[in-house]
This record gives sequence, C-alpha cells and structure tokens, in this order.
Amino acid sequence: MTEPRLITVLGATGSIGKSTLDVIARHPDRYRVFALTANRSVDCLAAQCREHRPRYAVVADVAAGAALKAALGEGTTEVLTGPEALVAVASASEVHSVMAAIVGAAGLLPSLAAARAGKRVLLANKEALVMSGRLFMDAIATSGAELLPIDSEHNAVFQCLPPRTAAGLEAAGVARITLTASGGPFRNTPLADLERVTPAQAVAHPNWSMGRKISVDSATMMNKGLEFIEACWLFAARAEQVDIVIHPQSIIHSLVSYADGSTLAQLGHPDMRTPIAHALAWPARIDSGVELLDLVQVGRLEFHAPDETRFPCLALARAAWAAGGGATAVLNAANEVAVEAFLAGSLGFTGIARLVEATLDRCGHLPAAGIESVLAADAEARQRAREWLARKAA
Ligand SMILES: NC(=O)c1ccc[n+]([C@@H]2O[C@H](COP(=O)([O-])OP(=O)(O)OC[C@H]3O[C@@H](n4cnc5c(N)ncnc54)[C@H](OP(=O)(O)O)[C@@H]3O)[C@@H](O)[C@H]2O)c1
Repeated sequence: MTEPRLITVLGATGSIGKSTLDVIARHPDRYRVFALTANRSVDCLAAQCREHRPRYAVVADVAAGAALKAALGEGTTEVLTGPEALVAVASASEVHSVMAAIVGAAGLLPSLAAARAGKRVLLANKEALVMSGRLFMDAIATSGAELLPIDSEHNAVFQCLPPRTAAGLEAAGVARITLTASGGPFRNTPLADLERVTPAQAVAHPNWSMGRKISVDSATMMNKGLEFIEACWLFAARAEQVDIVIHPQSIIHSLVSYADGSTLAQLGHPDMRTPIAHALAWPARIDSGVELLDLVQVGRLEFHAPDETRFPCLALARAAWAAGGGATAVLNAANEVAVEAFLAGSLGFTGIARLVEATLDRCGHLPAAGIESVLAADAEARQRAREWLARKAA
C-alpha cells in the first residue's frame, strides 16, 4: 500500500476547486490535501479546512487572514497569507500534485512555481498558459513536471492523442485537433439584441456550472479563443491544425483526427469531475462520481461552424497568437478588465470585444521574453484598457 499523494488545491473555493475536493474525498486512500487556497472566501475555505484538514490554508488577501485564523482556531491547519504563500504551497517539496484553479492572471505565479518545482500540474488556469506560454512550457520541460490539462476540451484531446508526440503531431499521424464549443447562451440571440445582454443572462451557461469570469468568456467565445491558444502551446500545434466547432450538447469534449481518416473523440457528461479525476489519477482511472453516458438518452449530437461576426473574440485570439510575443498576455489582460467592467455594469456585452481589440492595437507588439516582460505587458495592457473605459465613460 503506497502513501496517499499530497495535493495543493489553488483556488479551492471556486467551481473547479470544489469539484476537485469532491473527487479527492472519494479516494482518501489515494489523496490527502496539503494546502487549500482562496482569495478571500473565508467561510467557504474554513469549512473546507474542517473537512479536509490540510497542513496549510492560504488567503491571497492579507486582510482576510485574521478572519480565517479566528474561524479555524487552534487546529491542525496553519494559516498563511499573501501571494508569496500561494507560491510556497504550490512548490513545497512534499507536494506531488497541484490543482492550478485560480481564475485569471492571479494564478500565473503560483502555477508557474508548480511547473518549475517539477510537480504534476493539473492546469485549469488557462490564463497562465495564454500569458506565458513559452516560459511555462520551458519550465515544464526543464523541471520534468507533468502537465495534465483540466479544461475538458484539452483533457479530451490529451486522451485521444497517442502517448508520445514529442517528435511533433504530424510524426504521430495527427492531421487535426478539433475543439468543441457549446456556443454559450447567445448562440441564437439576434445580433441586434447582444448589446443589451445583462451579466445575469451572460453567466447563465446552458450546460456547464462555472465561475462568473469563465461563464462570460464562454458567452463571448473568448473562452474558446483562449483555449485555441492553450491548445497550440499544450500540443505544439500550428494554428491551422486547431479547428473549432460548435456542439450545443457539450457531450463530445473534443476530437483528434488522424492521417488515415480516423477521428477519435472523448465523450461524457458536462461535469468537470471527469477531467479532474482523469488528471489526478493518470494513467490510472478512478471513480469521479459522474454517471456513465446513456447515448440513447442523449439522442442527438449537432455541430455547426462558429459565426465569427457574432463572436469577434475568436478572431482576436487567433490574431494575438499569430502576432506572438506579448500579444496573448495583452489579449488576456484586456479581456479580464473588460469582463470585470461588464460584470460591474459599466461596459456593454459587445464592448468586451471592442475593448480587447483597441488594447491589442495599442500594445499588441509588447515582448514576452521572460516573466518580467510578461508581467509588464499585462500591467501596460490593463492600464490602456482602463484608460479606454475612462474615455468611454467621459
Ligand atoms: N469552472 C469550470 O468549469 C472551468 C472549466 C475549465 C477551466 N476552468 C478554468 O479554471 C479556473 C478557475 O475557474 P472557476 O470557474 O473555478 O473560477 P471561480 O469559481 O471564480 O473560482 C476562482 C478561484 O480563484 C480564487 N481567486 C480569485 N482571485 C484570486 C486572487 N487574486 N488570488 C488568489 N486566488 C484568487 C477564488 O477565491 P475566492 O473564492 O476567495 O474569490 C476561487 O477560489 C479559470 O482559469 C477557468 O478558466 C474552469
């Protein structure tokens, strides 16, 4: 009997974090929680600590530390605060696997720390890879870390690819990767009505239950744009090797087509516990709590080409990838500012793509050679995006 693997869950209080703890709780013989982190959701984090008894609980927001200490009292869990504590629990020597599930750019440094420390990195935080792709993939290769995708699409591709693709996709006989997309809640909304879409409508995803930011990204299809960039990095794919198809039922999570005409697909219910269990246990398979698919009950699977007039964020992401350098970090930063403004009611839904485009025009040329320049591109893009918002409000 081997010792349980120690796991750090970054972003434990979020949608992916909670699903991860659900899977872990099903396998106490295999996994034990080393650290749980949040930004400032003290009550939720304290309840998770009482159940999972981690060695450390981290809140990124230093001001929330006292409340967490008071909620936990004298127990087995030590409370740490601040962004440097996130890095420490992501790279601690005892840790085997790190679930990188902080949303947005805030996840970059701890996710990168896990990659540099040679952990099994379960990557949900796609923004980290979009911002720092080359740096991140080099860190994985240098440290010997294992990178397992949690995004359901990339996890599906990983499952459909042959075990070794180090010599390139073509050498492995792969002709095309197809990412599926549900099309979000506004797939059929008349174009003229999109400007009046509310945050409540945008976060109500038809198939998946997710955090607010990724739900808005799904509604604009920026999520698929970020995933396109993520796929290019993860699988060393060229842009023309990655296709996107709308599949409203979210049952096929993605596909890999081979030179001989075969296409392999991964299917399952739209429940993130499946890719999480896959990545935790890989190459073994464990129970995730998700029911097996009943194809007769599903009945119908549909596919459509994405409409890039309706979803301009897709073309923006492709353009940022083609530009290279810091353009994808700029795309990500501008999108984060835009989504925040949309959720706060100060930017219309269609303004999200306009703001991202304007910011890419201003600073899409910035470099991203090292972590300092990635962070500088992120900061500059945020400033330009906020100036654009201020001008619009004036
Ligand atoms: N949800 C899905 O089904 C899904 C699917 C595929 C990929 N992903 C990706 O997974 C990541 C997480 O998504 P989610 O839907 O789980 O998000 P979420 O529900 O909004 O949760 C975000 C988590 O990150 C923490 N956090 C937020 N800001 C932080 C900061 N500045 N410093 C440290 N921690 C911070 C939050 O803590 P508080 O609770 O304290 O705010 C929370 O634990 C995203 O990158 C998303 O694109 C999600």
